[in-house]
Amino acid sequence: MRFTTFSILAGLLLPGLAIAQLSGTVGPSTSTAHKTATKICNVLNYGAIASKTSDLGPPLASAWAACKSGGQVYIPPGDYGMSTWVLLKSGTAVSINLDGIIYRTGTAAGTMIFIEHTTDFEMYSSTSKGAVQGYGYVFHKAGAYGPRILRLYDVTNFSVHDLALVDSPAFHFSIDTCSNGEVYNMIIRGGNEGGLDGIDVWSTNIHIHDVEVTNKDECVTVKSPSKNILIENVFCNWSGGCAIGSLAAGTDISDIEYNHVYTQNSNQMLMIKSNGGSGTLKNVIFQNFMGHSNAHAIDLDSAWSSMSTVAGNGVGYSNITFDSWHGTVTNGANKPPVQVFCPAAVPCTGITISNNFMWTEAGSKVLQKCSNAYGSGACLSSGASHTSYATVTKTITSVASYAITTMPGEITAGLGISTSIAIPAVPTTFFPGAKPAKALLGAS
Ligand SMILES: *[C@@H]1O[C@H](CO)[C@@H](O)[C@H](O)[C@H]1NC(C)=O
Ligand SMILES: *[C@@H]1O[C@H](CO)[C@@H](O)[C@H](O)[C@H]1NC(C)=O
Ligand SMILES: *[C@@H]1O[C@H](CO)[C@@H](O)[C@H](O)[C@H]1NC(C)=O
Repeated sequence: MRFTTFSILAGLLLPGLAIAQLSGTVGPSTSTAHKTATKICNVLNYGAIASKTSDLGPPLASAWAACKSGGQVYIPPGDYGMSTWVLLKSGTAVSINLDGIIYRTGTAAGTMIFIEHTTDFEMYSSTSKGAVQGYGYVFHKAGAYGPRILRLYDVTNFSVHDLALVDSPAFHFSIDTCSNGEVYNMIIRGGNEGGLDGIDVWSTNIHIHDVEVTNKDECVTVKSPSKNILIENVFCNWSGGCAIGSLAAGTDISDIEYNHVYTQNSNQMLMIKSNGGSGTLKNVIFQNFMGHSNAHAIDLDSAWSSMSTVAGNGVGYSNITFDSWHGTVTNGANKPPVQVFCPAAVPCTGITISNNFMWTEAGSKVLQKCSNAYGSGACLSSGASHTSYATVTKTITSVASYAITTMPGEITAGLGISTSIAIPAVPTTFFPGAKPAKALLGAS
């Protein structure tokens, strides 16, 4: 297994282009040191007890209230139970340093830690060992779901990093209507079933990089509305895979880039999903994708059967590039590694599929299928009048340079849903050969 020369060059040449998808600076406006110098609100001074049977909820809320106008909420190393959830709002120049481990004990729905209407915010672990253990298997083995772990709503100028989110009873991390954020050096380990999304983002100007996700649903997924989202160095280590969607009425997404995404044993390497709907998804680049043992690779499905049809002629898809894809799918004749199924009433335009080196693990051919899709490469139609057309199938019987460097320590079976999932260390690589943009805090 080896890198092709092309992908090495592409990797070296990318940083300048990559930054282009962001619209400005991301991250907190004042430094970690500035916040700790202002004030430290140690949860132990607000009633917290370092014990798995304590409830961190009220002490955490009190520490936030005391530091939310400037300072750091500090959760020192140790184990903390959490039986009530917290809504932490209206913060300015505030951080949460989670060096301890929070163990879910409560059973209410909702979100364990919900941050809203806050600016200049950082949530991290200074040792890279902070974690939230959701014990989702307790719900999942009974066929149920519980609370989400972490949600940010209307948070501006922020970062979340050096944390592990484990076995959420529902979604792990949602970034809703936020702006100027950075998320990095994170690991998410969820159960092996749907509904346990890794990172979902619908926001503006967000940089998500160096993250690993295990689950069986969304790895890192962009939802509507979103603008200027850059997602790099992602390891979907047995997951559902990354996606954009599901998209419905009034979709409004533009200027999105995914770069250096490694996916194994997932449903797809990248899916764009809708069924009816309206609005637009435009100016999107998916580049330097590598993967193996996935069912699908490129999968744009505007009649996605897992979603009920919503009103509208379909989402308008335009100016979407898939460049430099390497690897294999499980059976490329059965599930084509290129599928671009666009709405008949609004055909896709400006789709580019270039340097596509996707081969199959079973059989000796791969198919490419397109309908109502215009642009260049693969089975796309190059016609200038964008009329609807029925599915066109292209058969490929050999692909050069599909080989990839695999990631170390790939998961070889899902983590199940009936036993507890161990808290992992935050990894130090998220894409073959790539170093994270920022070193782990715990490494220094
Ligand atoms: C967020 O950061 C940007 C760039 O550093 C700054 O211009 C802006 O005022 C900040 N916004 C808030 C709400 O603090
Ligand atoms: C297409 O999208 C790319 C990437 O977002 C952007 O740089 C370019 O300007 C867009 N092209 C047009 C014609 O809008
Ligand atoms: C992938 O997941 C498996 C199972 O949790 C883990 O053992 C392995 O370390 C992960 N790989 C990496 C590189 O983190």
